[in-house]
Amino acid sequence: MANMNFGGISEQVVTRDEFSLERAKDVLKDKCICVLGYGVQGPAQALNLRDQGFNVVVGQRKGTKTWEKAIRDGWVPGKTLFELEEAAKKGQIWLFLLSDAGQIKLWPKLKPFLSEGKTLCFSHGFGLTYNDQTNILPPSNVDVVLVAPKGSGTSVRRHFLEGKGINASYAIDQDFTGKAWDKAVAIGMGVGAGYLFETSFKKEVFSDLTGERGVLMGALAGMMEAQYNVLRANGHSPSEAFNETVEELTQSLMPLVAENGMDWMFANTSTTAQRGALDWRHRFREASMPVFMELYDKVVSGEEARITIEANQYPDYRKGLEFELNEIAESEMWQAGKQVRSLRPENNKDFSDKLKMDPVLNN
Ligand SMILES: NC(=O)c1ccc[n+]([C@@H]2O[C@H](COP(=O)([O-])OP(=O)(O)OC[C@H]3O[C@@H](n4cnc5c(N)ncnc54)[C@H](OP(=O)(O)O)[C@@H]3O)[C@@H](O)[C@H]2O)c1
Repeated sequence: MANMNFGGISEQVVTRDEFSLERAKDVLKDKCICVLGYGVQGPAQALNLRDQGFNVVVGQRKGTKTWEKAIRDGWVPGKTLFELEEAAKKGQIWLFLLSDAGQIKLWPKLKPFLSEGKTLCFSHGFGLTYNDQTNILPPSNVDVVLVAPKGSGTSVRRHFLEGKGINASYAIDQDFTGKAWDKAVAIGMGVGAGYLFETSFKKEVFSDLTGERGVLMGALAGMMEAQYNVLRANGHSPSEAFNETVEELTQSLMPLVAENGMDWMFANTSTTAQRGALDWRHRFREASMPVFMELYDKVVSGEEARITIEANQYPDYRKGLEFELNEIAESEMWQAGKQVRSLRPENNKDFSDKLKMDPVLNN
């Protein structure tokens, strides 16, 4: 582990320099890794591990579109692709990548196959942290770890194929074999993490639920809608409102912020934009702070988990979800976005042909 300075605070992290791929392979040699679930994270982690030479099998319920997709990705039924129980039996290292609701449902069926000395690896702290609601209680004679890529499965695969990595957090909840740390870090390197930083199951889920409900998705979508609506209400065209709200952010500014940080962005914009953004930043921070505080409290109290678990239990949840997503898709703002995207010069045939070649990006 390396001790590094993050904004004046010292943190222990693991980089590829300290923990090489060769070391990861050595830690997991002769171990069968089973990837249970082939939704969004499943394919990315399974394919990255397979491409890096680890011994991987996939567990997925049969007779589904997902099963067919796994076959298209090169997993062979009876050899590297099995029903969930069969894969769980074979796997010494479980990457538990069913949806969080699926984990709750399948846990009683799969638990008997989690025999002594095996490793249970989550990509989210949800199942364990809220175990009063999920009933996921691992036996005491196994290792329980977490490796959580800080990005969607699509990015985990895309970055890997581009020779980049997605940073991931890791945590050790139970170290039965005395080797849990090595295994967690080896899994992290195997799935193609950039650098790994330490967390706990609780901290992972508290930050993750806050992040996705907040800046990463919920707050971002809400702020975009608010700004777009104000511009439209004041007579700006959809093209103008969308470009000023979304397109410029995603296509121009965020890649630069990703490369150089926000201070660089502020320094390298017009003085007009700079002055205004520096002033208004404080207003937006103060206005949103109480909402973030309420959100964090609801995550910690388990209220957000309760809402999620309950919603997933409704038999017509998918139908309702489709309705909600459609509402976004059909809105003027995102219809305008579709049109704007289609006008990007790079959306030509050569570019889309390149994307078509990768299994994960085209599921
Ligand atoms: N999405 C991400 O990018 C992301 C990022 C970081 C961490 N994570 C974590 O990674 C884990 C997996 O997330 P995900 O987004 O990849 O999940 P997902 O796409 O929703 O995973 C769906 C998988 O679970 C299976 N499944 C769901 N319900 C089932 C049931 N009742 N019986 C049998 N199989 C069932 C699905 O099979 P069918 O297709 O047959 O339904 C599919 O294989 C979660 O813990 C999540 O929090 C996800």
